[in-house]
Amino acid sequence: MGALAAAAAGLVDWMEVDPPEKAIGAFHATLNVSATLFFMVSFLLRWFEHWRPGWGAFAVALMGYVLVMGGGYLGGILVFHLGVMINRNAYRSGPEDFTTITTVGELAEDELKRVVVHEQPVLLVKVSGRIHAVGAVCSHYGAPLNEGRVVDNTIECPWHASRFALEDGMVVQGPACAALPVYDCRIVNAQVQIKMRTENKVRDEEGSMPITTAASH
Ligand code: FES
Repeated sequence: MGALAAAAAGLVDWMEVDPPEKAIGAFHATLNVSATLFFMVSFLLRWFEHWRPGWGAFAVALMGYVLVMGGGYLGGILVFHLGVMINRNAYRSGPEDFTTITTVGELAEDELKRVVVHEQPVLLVKVSGRIHAVGAVCSHYGAPLNEGRVVDNTIECPWHASRFALEDGMVVQGPACAALPVYDCRIVNAQVQIKMRTENKVRDEEGSMPITTAASH
């Protein structure tokens, strides 16, 4: 009964994910379903044996345990390594030192530009002459935010209309509930440079105005 409930919940999650998570999820499901079948066979063997202990039923159940451990390991990879159905940006990293990613001339006002830095998708946007850099993947279901739009200094997700503040990546409007990764920006010799913001320098303890947020041009 528990396996049925877990399979239903897993199937709903699996229908929403992309490769490579989809393939890992399918393997995870295959192992868990196989383990459940082994447990059922072991149960039936014991039943027919009137619950007398027997090596056959034990061996079949042992196979089930081995399979369920493999399935559990893959489930752990999905959640703790890939962040599936937690936060699409759960384990994002980025440059720790300022890294040049484009030139100022390549950024038009209000244009959403997606770049890849250290294998991470980053969204660049210039609003009122200030350049902001945040993660380019919506924390909700992973929509490409470069297909969204800028609304009142926020980026609006194209799929379910969550809004994230460009200053600090925080959620301004759901359904998303996790912030976006945010990057510090600077301009050096007309080059736009960014680095991962490791702590939120936007608001001080009283939540007052931005201290370090974006580069101006
Ligand atoms: S994917 Fe962005 S709000 Fe749902």
